Amino acid sequence: MATKTGALPAGAAIDRERTADRLLRSTAARSYDPELDIDWSAAPQEGKLFLPEHRSTLYGTPLWDRFTPDQRRELGKHEAASVAGFGIWLEAVLMRLLAKLAYEENPATRHVQYAWAEMAEECRHSTMFARLIEWMGVPYYGPPRRVHALGRLLAATAHGPAMWGAILIGEEITDRYQREMAADDSIQPLVQMVNRIHIVEEARHIGFARAELTRSAATLPRYELPIQRGMLGRVANVVARNLINPEVYRSVGLDPVEARRVALANPAHHETIRYGGEKIVAFLREAGMIGPPATLLWRHAHLID
Ligand SMILES: [Fe+2]
Ligand SMILES: [Fe+2]
Repeated sequence: MATKTGALPAGAAIDRERTADRLLRSTAARSYDPELDIDWSAAPQEGKLFLPEHRSTLYGTPLWDRFTPDQRRELGKHEAASVAGFGIWLEAVLMRLLAKLAYEENPATRHVQYAWAEMAEECRHSTMFARLIEWMGVPYYGPPRRVHALGRLLAATAHGPAMWGAILIGEEITDRYQREMAADDSIQPLVQMVNRIHIVEEARHIGFARAELTRSAATLPRYELPIQRGMLGRVANVVARNLINPEVYRSVGLDPVEARRVALANPAHHETIRYGGEKIVAFLREAGMIGPPATLLWRHAHLID
């Protein structure tokens, strides 16, 4: 469970209130309602992509080379839908963690009030991603059943730096791809708009979670470090390997088992994962949260060399 305000040293508690106050003011000044701010009646534009080609999991493989430009675009659309579906799952876990924090702490603090503000944004994001999937006219690809069950466990047990780290892994990896797409005009304008909205609001969430991680890591008892690192390594591994549900391959006429095997062995895909994790890995390393006993989990996911 998150540290209670009363258990924090006075300086840290003041600091925490300051951060939350700044984020609340930023929320009031700039936030979106995707129901109103996105024109969901606009049709997809001819020739525009749903995902940059070099971020497709099969990019550069013999399977990719066999595909026509239209088939590549179609695969990118299903992969983009898979990432959006995974995002909905992540946000559901995150909302439960934030609700737990708010339940345990004093509502008459900016800290709890910001947790509520973030939950309100995540609710709108989940609706936005669900509408995006509908707009693309593709299935909802949730995470595999095993990952769905792990999410339940994570929501019930995560605490301290591993909890904030898990949130950051989900938010920062997707943020990197979204920033790239927002700046890439070969991408569908509606997809770019979804990304821009998410980037603006997630910047606050990332600031909140990074500050909380630093604070909770500073007071972590030594004996807990391997447990926290282990939990975080597991989350990082699961996120990096499950953003793309293998069922996307079936949707474009490929064998899902074979295509997933090709994707997981694809050096271009490893580079995409490394790129997604670059910033959060540097931050978590600095905070001492990457290391034994979980180093191999990070390496196996291609998040570190
Ligand atoms: Fe979000
Ligand atoms: Fe978020």
